Amino acid sequence: MSGWFITLEGIDGSGKSTQAKLLYERLLACGIAALLTREPGGTVVGQALRKLCLNGGETLTWETEMLLMAADRAQHVQEVIRPALEQGCCVICDRYIDSTVAYQGYGAQASLAAIRQVNMIATQGLEPHLTLLFDIKPTERYVRQGEVDRIEKRSLEYHQRVYEGFMQIARENERVVVIPAKRKTPAEVAAMVWQACVTKLPHLDRSAELN
Ligand code: TYD
Repeated sequence: MSGWFITLEGIDGSGKSTQAKLLYERLLACGIAALLTREPGGTVVGQALRKLCLNGGETLTWETEMLLMAADRAQHVQEVIRPALEQGCCVICDRYIDSTVAYQGYGAQASLAAIRQVNMIATQGLEPHLTLLFDIKPTERYVRQGEVDRIEKRSLEYHQRVYEGFMQIARENERVVVIPAKRKTPAEVAAMVWQACVTKLPHLDRSAELN
């Protein structure tokens, strides 16, 4: 496998989707082959699972929610992420396993060991080279007006546990870089993102210079 695998994580409203797009555009502008994708919903099967998880009318058990996220990921890794990495593409993925650990594990208090085991099967052990974690507290996040999905509707306490979960993941994994995104403009955050990428993935910087 020759491409770089970069994931973006954070609570809802942390601005990570905007940053995923800006990073993708910057890589393309540097002449680096890149792919922008997201979870849940990065495949046709995944889009149906996303609808079921986030906007379906039925009540899901925590275990069902965790397994549906993992099913989405299994399809996504096999159909999209691995083939792109094998072709040398830099894959930018908006959410990955850390989201399941934070939302279903720390947030909903599902077993972390079970989540790890299920995700090992789903991804066949595929880990990101770099994870960018956007640090915005639940009380500081951007709250979308109008339609919000089933997970965004959960209590502040739930989102607080998710936030603490992400911070714990950052402490435990060297691949995670925390980006302090509070009260920063998108351009300021994008500059921190690029700095993290070239520091952690020096080959990326060299490719950008060559092109
Ligand atoms: P996201 O696509 O980032 O939200 P948005 O529609 O705001 O761009 O994520 C959708 C929701 O799914 C978000 O609340 C987090 C949740 N989620 C989990 O609970 N577990 C997971 O494993 C993943 C990937 C997402």
